[in-house]
Amino acid sequence: MTTSEQGLGLPDGFELGAATASYQIEGAIAADGRGPSIWDTFSHTPGAVAGGDTGDVACDHYHRYAEDVALMAGLGLDSYRFSVAWPRIQPTGKGPANEAGLAFYDRLVDELLAHDIAPAITLYHWDLPQPLEDAGGWRVRDTAERFAEYADIVHEHLSDRVSRWITLNEPYCSSIVGYAEGRHAPGAREGDGALAAAHHLLLGHGLALQRLRARGGEGQQLGVTLNLQPVSSVTDRPEDVAAADRALLLANRLFTDPVLAGTYPDLARSTYAPVTDFGWIRDGDLEVIGAPLDFLGVNYYFPANVRAAAYDEPDPARRTASDLGFEDVVAEGVERTEMGWPVDSDGLRRLLRWLHETYPTLPPVYITENGRACDDVVAANGHVHDPDRVRYLEDHLRAVVAATHEGVDVRGYYCWSLLDNFEWAEGYAKRFGLVYVDYETQQRIPKSSYEWYRRLIARHHTP
Ligand code: NOJ
Repeated sequence: MTTSEQGLGLPDGFELGAATASYQIEGAIAADGRGPSIWDTFSHTPGAVAGGDTGDVACDHYHRYAEDVALMAGLGLDSYRFSVAWPRIQPTGKGPANEAGLAFYDRLVDELLAHDIAPAITLYHWDLPQPLEDAGGWRVRDTAERFAEYADIVHEHLSDRVSRWITLNEPYCSSIVGYAEGRHAPGAREGDGALAAAHHLLLGHGLALQRLRARGGEGQQLGVTLNLQPVSSVTDRPEDVAAADRALLLANRLFTDPVLAGTYPDLARSTYAPVTDFGWIRDGDLEVIGAPLDFLGVNYYFPANVRAAAYDEPDPARRTASDLGFEDVVAEGVERTEMGWPVDSDGLRRLLRWLHETYPTLPPVYITENGRACDDVVAANGHVHDPDRVRYLEDHLRAVVAATHEGVDVRGYYCWSLLDNFEWAEGYAKRFGLVYVDYETQQRIPKSSYEWYRRLIARHHTP
């Protein structure tokens, strides 16, 4: 028996799934009345995405969803996490539902249910309708209200068949990476605007939660997905420790404190005093944002180990929300993925422990994403052999099991990703899938990790 054939000791009832997102796989950007999103605009901006790649065609999942669900059924997935593209439902970001857009998700959900796969819907995985960005995007409060309205439309339509709902995916990326670092759509580099975006995303989450909660639905589970990191300081020098506190603020607490404790950390106000007075927070917002969740979705890829950066305090007017004077250090010899991210499976256990110890209100957790990019190639015999991915996934699943033994209530795990897909600013060059996609022919080739996951799921469900 090889290691990968031994049981991993996953708890009974633990769910195994896979995840994707609309803009990364669907393509068909003009089909059935879909409007443009900020990612259409951004990916068509010269220099924004590696190789000039766009999501125009992606994996053509919009037309090939039945084939893709068959691949999921072949894996024996318990659940499939996908996102709904807001611009398919409301092409301008407001107004009545576009029935043809809803019909696509009807077909997808029905196909999943016919194969006994539980759908888990993410309502926002970064494809904001462009007209809403033109009106200020997430910087403005109105976008939060619009999001709640859109969420309500989708929920009204699908809550008879879908019980697991994730309002937002990684609001850190939508706000900080999109409005402060400028690496993601809409490509802005701001201070106050990026922090306002973070707040309005969270407010949108809270307002959507109210609407979904009010409608209800059988076995309904409502949550939000945050990308989080365990954060440590390279040394115990006070400046490094303070830098690690700021890194923890930016990576986690700016999002986990409001969502899980209904507050912003004091450190946020003092750290960001030069760029904002948080004047866009209104009375009552934090109660809305901090409403109880049925689960927290956690996306984990790698930890942060930081030190104080040699840093010239930027001119406040030019400072962005991500300029916090720390830098990440990766020790020499540490394995890195094709993204350059360090591999540290125990980081997932540490992160789960941190959540459990920091937030008494922590609801059950689903790992809604975890996976790695590998340099996958199709061999002469037609196979794609990806042992590094198998090792990565297996080690991270073991870390989840370890966390459950330490008292953290983790209910499931979604591998990122089912398919190779459009990896945002990295385009198609970075491959995360269990299934290889030949973008010339749209042929799908299950990798050896697919076979590994299939066997793991089968064993997990064999009494
Ligand atoms: C997180 C994002 O949710 C997903 O869209 C992305 O592809 C993966 N991380 C890998 O970077």
